[in-house]
Order: sequence, then C-alpha cells, then structure tokens
Amino acid sequence: MSSSRIVVITGASGGLGRALTELHLKKGDLVIATSRTPSSLEALTDQLSRHEKLYIHPLDVGSNDAVRQFAAWVHVRFGKCDLLYNNAGMAVFESLVNMRLEELEETLLTNIAGVMYTTRAFLPMMLQEGTGHIINIASLAGQVATAKAAVYAASKAAVIRFSEGLRHELADSGIHITCALPGPIDTPFLDRADKTGAYRSKVSRYLLSPERTAALICKAVENKRPEIAMPFRLHALSRLYSFLPYRLKTLVAPLLNRK
Ligand SMILES: NC(=O)c1ccc[n+]([C@@H]2O[C@H](COP(=O)([O-])OP(=O)(O)OC[C@H]3O[C@@H](n4cnc5c(N)ncnc54)[C@H](OP(=O)(O)O)[C@@H]3O)[C@@H](O)[C@H]2O)c1
Repeated sequence: MSSSRIVVITGASGGLGRALTELHLKKGDLVIATSRTPSSLEALTDQLSRHEKLYIHPLDVGSNDAVRQFAAWVHVRFGKCDLLYNNAGMAVFESLVNMRLEELEETLLTNIAGVMYTTRAFLPMMLQEGTGHIINIASLAGQVATAKAAVYAASKAAVIRFSEGLRHELADSGIHITCALPGPIDTPFLDRADKTGAYRSKVSRYLLSPERTAALICKAVENKRPEIAMPFRLHALSRLYSFLPYRLKTLVAPLLNRK
C-alpha cells in the first residue's frame, strides 16, 4: 500500500479533469484517472509521459455495475481512497422540446446518477477509514437556470443539493464534502454543449482556464471548504439575481440568456 494520498478523478480526459490530474500529480499524490472513452485516456497517458503515480482506468459513471467494480478494484489495489472527484459531466444546450431523448437521458445519467453511484460505491471504504473527501463538480448553472440549459441546470442543482444533504449525513464521520460551482471554463465541454460556438463567444470574457479552476478547487479542498464558486463577479451576480423578486427577474432574464 502506498503512503501517498490516493486521488480518484472521473472524467479525467477532459479539460478540468486533466488539469486536476496534473495538479495532484505535482503535489505527489497517486492519481487514478478515469473517463468513459479508452482512446481519450490513452491520449492522457501519452501527454503525461507515463507518470509513475498515474493509473488510468476506463469508467462510465452512468453504469452502476461498472462503478461498483471499479471501486472494489481501487479498494483491493490501493486499500483506500482519500479524495474522490466527481467531475465527469456533459451538457447539450438546447430547448427541452428540441433536445433528443438520448441527450436528456445522458445528461441525467452522467451528471446526477453518475455522481450518486460513484459516491455510494466509494463511501463504505471512506467510512471504514473514518477519513476522506468527496468533491462534486456542479456549476453556477445550478444556481441560476437559463434558456436552453433547463436540463443541465436542473442536473447541477441536483448535485448542489445532493452535496448539502450528504454533508449533513456525514457530519462527524471524518469525511468532507466540497461542492464546486464554476462558471464557464474553456474546455471541449462548450464545443459539445453548443456546436455553433455562439455560447463560447458570448461568454468569452468570463471564461476560466481549466488550470486556474483546478487550482481554486484544490485550494478549497485543502481548506476543507464546503462550497466554492468562481469567478467571483459571475457568482456575485448570480447570487444577486436569485434574491430578486420574480417580476424583476423576468426583466433581467434576457441579459442572462446567452445560449
Ligand atoms: N466547461 C464548462 O464551462 C463548465 C462549467 C461549469 C461546470 N462544468 C463541469 O465541469 C466538469 C468537467 O467538465 P469539462 O469542462 O472538463 O468537460 P470536458 O472537457 O467535456 O470533459 C468531460 C469529461 O467527462 C467525461 N465523461 C462524460 N460522460 C461520462 C460518463 N458517462 N462516464 C465517465 N466519464 C464521462 C469525458 O470523458 P469522455 O471524453 O471519455 O466521454 C471527459 O473526460 C463537468 O461536470 C461539467 O459539467 C463545466
């Protein structure tokens, strides 16, 4: 068994997951990086020059069986999991009537069920150790919903509330929960969410880099903060908006609908 911290990251081939992987490897942690598509994981290993503390594993978080088998493998191979990043996620920015049913189902399965399956599979080994930290990547979209993001916003609101409830369930267990609410990040996520590129250009001045986002999240984790939202200006605006009376909200809403 290794004395390094054992860090599990889902969706590690993507922009934020990859930045988190690199950051934790730099900190000397042992990282088990997972994502759904084996080819995207191969690219990750090539780019990180087969780092000795990097383990890669294909994992579709939407399959409860696969998640349970993976957690059992981590337990046997490494004995524990210190940090679990529930990072895998996706979006399709489309109105509900125009969204394909498969896209709707994939969003719910990956963004909500995936987070719950993975947490449920890893919690027993954390409870056994009496220590651990689960980091759920939500979004500012979970605070304020906009047109063409009703499904995505609902999925991220679920992650925020799930994190909150879990925090209560795990009080005094030694296990910490951090929920991260980033604004738009410059990753391939945006290209899939809106293939026209319009959303990316409309939010370009707010775009966070994956590296900066990962650094802010890691700092919040080290400080055991229950929640972190970024960038500050967008977070402050979304908090302000959520306190507005409904009639004022309808006046402001057209400014928010950038999709
Ligand atoms: N980018 C943004 O603007 C933004 C803003 C706020 C929050 N977020 C959240 O940040 C997280 C990371 O997003 P990102 O921007 O880094 O996106 P990304 O670059 O598109 O990466 C997404 C990652 O999730 C993986 N993934 C997707 N579905 C999966 C599944 N069913 N099982 C396992 N892995 C799966 C992808 O792997 P494959 O390639 O193998 O499918 C990929 O590694 C997501 O939860 C996202 O909702 C993103």
